[in-house]
Formats: sequence, C-alpha cells, structure tokens
Amino acid sequence: MTPILELKGITKVYGKEDNRIVAVDDVTLTIGRGEMLLVMGPSGSGKTTLLSIMGCILLPTEGDVTVDGKKIIGGASPYSRPEDVLPDIRKEYFGFVFQSFNLFPSLTAVENVGLILRLKKRDGKEINSEALKLIERFGLAKRAGFYPADMSGGEKQRVALARALAGDPPIILADEPTANLDSKTGLEVLGLLRGLSEAGKAVVIVSHDPKAETTADRIVYLEDGKIKKT
Ligand SMILES: Nc1ncnc2c1ncn2[C@@H]1O[C@H](COP(=O)(O)OP(=O)(O)O)[C@@H](O)[C@H]1O
Ligand SMILES: [Mg+2]
Repeated sequence: MTPILELKGITKVYGKEDNRIVAVDDVTLTIGRGEMLLVMGPSGSGKTTLLSIMGCILLPTEGDVTVDGKKIIGGASPYSRPEDVLPDIRKEYFGFVFQSFNLFPSLTAVENVGLILRLKKRDGKEINSEALKLIERFGLAKRAGFYPADMSGGEKQRVALARALAGDPPIILADEPTANLDSKTGLEVLGLLRGLSEAGKAVVIVSHDPKAETTADRIVYLEDGKIKKT
C-alpha cells in the first residue's frame, strides 16, 4: 500500500496554563492510497482537530505531516513557514466533507461545485460542464439548479461529495458526514464514500456512527486525543 498521508507524533495543544488542553496527543498514523480509514471516538476526543491537521487546515503543536511523500510540516520539512504552502497543498490533495454540509446558501448546487473548481484554477470555460458532470455522478442532475434550502439533507451531502471531488484530489476527509442524516440516507452517503475509496481515493471519516464501522477498511479509536491500543 503506497502511503498518501503520514502523521508522525502529532500533538495539538490549545490554550495556556489553566486553559491548556491537549486535544491530540502523540498520534502516528499512515493512510494508503485507496484506503478507507474510520476514526471513532466520543465527543471531545480530538477527532475534528486530528482531521484538520490531516487536511493541512490546522498546524500541529508538534509532529510531522507528510503528504504524497513530501514532508510538509515538521523536522526536515523544506518549508520554513509551512503556513505559506498549506493553501496550495489543500487545493491539490484534499477534498472536505462536513457534518453540516457547509454549502453556500446563495449558490446553486452546480455553482457550489463550480466555485471550488474555480479556486482550483480550472479553465473558465470548462468549469460549468465539469461541475455538472460531478453533480450527475452523484445522481443529482435534476437538482443542479437548486439552492441548498430546496434540497434534502441527503441531497446536500451529495452536493458536498461532488464538491469534495472537484479537481480530483487523492484524499477525501469527512467530519461526521452522517450526523445530520437519517439512518438510511447516512448509509447511502457511506456507500458513496466507499465507492470513492474503491475508485482509488484515500478516504478518512471521523464519526461516532456505528454504521460506519462496516464500511471502513480500518478503524482507529481516539480517546482523550490518543489512539487506543486495540
Ligand atoms: N479552537 C479550539 N480552542 C480551544 N480548545 C479547542 C478548540 N477546538 C477544540 N478544542 C478542544 O479540544 C478537544 C478536542 O476537540 P475536537 O477535536 O473538536 O473533538 P471531537 O471532534 O472529537 O469532538 C475538546 O476538549 C475541545 O473542547
Ligand atoms: Mg468533531
């Protein structure tokens, strides 16, 4: 299995003195291309913090992040100010899916996807047709011109999946993607994420939804920021 994402000794501390919280505590993890990894743990165990560090949204207090063999953060990184390169790394390597969908309410489904393609500097003329293709891939052809307010939760999360795939990044990170969905729709979304991993994407889901357990290739459990030995 070729690693696409490697975390080594990742620790994240928030706050100082009385407010000091170790949200992630010395986590080491490797994710392979095409692997579907599930990170489970109770609320407050550090899942979102860990996922944000994986996705180069948040800098760790300590530890190394390596993406596609390139050391981005940590000792021996070629970047003295990793924060300067993180936006480009995010655009090239990551697609994100969130619990509350995070679609722009004033943009239609196809515009929400197109916006990310534009940020990823796709050729202007192709943006619309590419966004439509992604929307259709998730069975939403009839919803392309709809605004988020006029779509169901499952439809919104499928738009979010289409958006995560915009620009064809190799890694998809999903933070509690089924938490706002009913059980059947949640399973559908998990199945779609599974399909992405079978098509070669590395997929990391953080969740405490037991339904996710059967879809993943591997599960790690977080407790107080640490990976529990199983
Ligand atoms: N920006 C922040 N500032 C201070 N503390 C935070 C921040 N984000 C998260 N925390 C704290 O870090 C711990 C882990 O939070 P989080 O990563 O959101 O866990 P989870 O996603 O598993 O619920 C919690 O104690 C939370 O209160
Ligand atoms: Mg969380």
